[in-house]
Amino acid sequence: MRMSSIRVDIENLKNVVSDDERFSFQDQVDAIHRGMENRSGTGAEYLGWADLPSGTSDDLLKRIENSASTIRERCDAFIQIGIGGSYLGARAGISFLSPLIASAALRKGPEIFYAGHNISSDYYSDLLAALSDRDCALFVVSKSGTTLEPALGFRILRQWMENKYGAAEASRRIVAATDPSKGVLKTIANEQGYETFDIPQDVGGRFSVLTPVGLLPMAVAGVDIHSLLQGARDMEARLRADSSLESNPAYNYAVCRHLLRRKGKTTEILSSFHPAFAYLQEWWKQLAGESEGKDGKGIFPATLEFTTDLHSMGQWIQEGERFIFETFLILDQSRKAIAVSENQNDEDGLNFLTGKTLDFINEKAYKGTAKAHSEGLAPNLTIAVKDRSAYSLGQFFYFFQRAVAMTGYLDGVNPFDQPGVELYKKNMFALFNKPGTAKGQSQ
Ligand code: PA5
Repeated sequence: MRMSSIRVDIENLKNVVSDDERFSFQDQVDAIHRGMENRSGTGAEYLGWADLPSGTSDDLLKRIENSASTIRERCDAFIQIGIGGSYLGARAGISFLSPLIASAALRKGPEIFYAGHNISSDYYSDLLAALSDRDCALFVVSKSGTTLEPALGFRILRQWMENKYGAAEASRRIVAATDPSKGVLKTIANEQGYETFDIPQDVGGRFSVLTPVGLLPMAVAGVDIHSLLQGARDMEARLRADSSLESNPAYNYAVCRHLLRRKGKTTEILSSFHPAFAYLQEWWKQLAGESEGKDGKGIFPATLEFTTDLHSMGQWIQEGERFIFETFLILDQSRKAIAVSENQNDEDGLNFLTGKTLDFINEKAYKGTAKAHSEGLAPNLTIAVKDRSAYSLGQFFYFFQRAVAMTGYLDGVNPFDQPGVELYKKNMFALFNKPGTAKGQSQ
């Protein structure tokens, strides 16, 4: 049975985006949808993510689970090395599903650390100090196998592992995910005999969370990856079956975003009302930013966490320059309701809230914020996620991938390349006089 954990509510956009405007895009959306389905559109060679959930074999899931359970049995620290799409999805999924307080008592499995996403000596010295008395496994992820940050992180941590365990045992504790046939990481992994997972060639980094890149770390953290994949599969079936804006919430969201950008609302703030969304927002920021921001187009994706940031950025949202719209992220069900207790003398004057749950109060804060920001000409829509379950998370990942791809196509860009990311690398390597890369030559 197909269930939906994601609900899109555009009621608050009614004064800004009319139904006629939205539905005027139906033919274009249908044509883009057909192109995605027959893999005939721009960037079609990177559409592998679109049927990844339904195409993931039981054998691959079993392999991932076996690898994860070996790591869980023997290690109390798991370090994922990767940057951008090679780590954000895993981090987002784990932090969304894990208890907020990652204490050893609450954690059911190794503690998860991240590396390869910065070039900071301080970060690495802190990390190595934290790992000194831990039993470690390394997961190095790089699709290209050549990205500087994870390659440096891997050089440092591999050396550290080899010193700690000896080369042979270190190799048993290192797992790699990379291109099936090429790249430096693939060569090292083959030579050293690391367990290796393929990142399919037709799946770009930021769309790779439902490959072993995201699934292995989540399994190590104790996430039910079958349920996660089932959520993604059900969302895939729903979004691929029907491109009607009435029944396809991802396309409806995409058309609203496209229209808002054309009306001058060029920054989207994904504003959540729960800290558990923090890294999902980061994941979305990369997905949307790298997919849409090109050819002088694209919404600038920003994120805020409410109600915290209402006390820092609320003023700006309410009255600052009017080029923003908001997408609120809310949760329909919390894991455990916490209610406000009665205070006999009502010293703090809050007895009017006695018996109310924090969710009830948070909902009123959300509704009050949505109304205030609408009145302040910051249009908003809402994406409601049913709960913090692996199933809903799978739906979330697939929903946003499909929505971002559709928005990119509506904007007329290739959502699956990132030519602009290369320039900083080219300039940086030129400053090093890296062998084999003459100044100005592309990496
Ligand atoms: O989405 C993308 O393709 C990028 O953000 C990559 O994920 C990121 O640059 C890391 O690349 P790689 O996995 O090749 O090291």
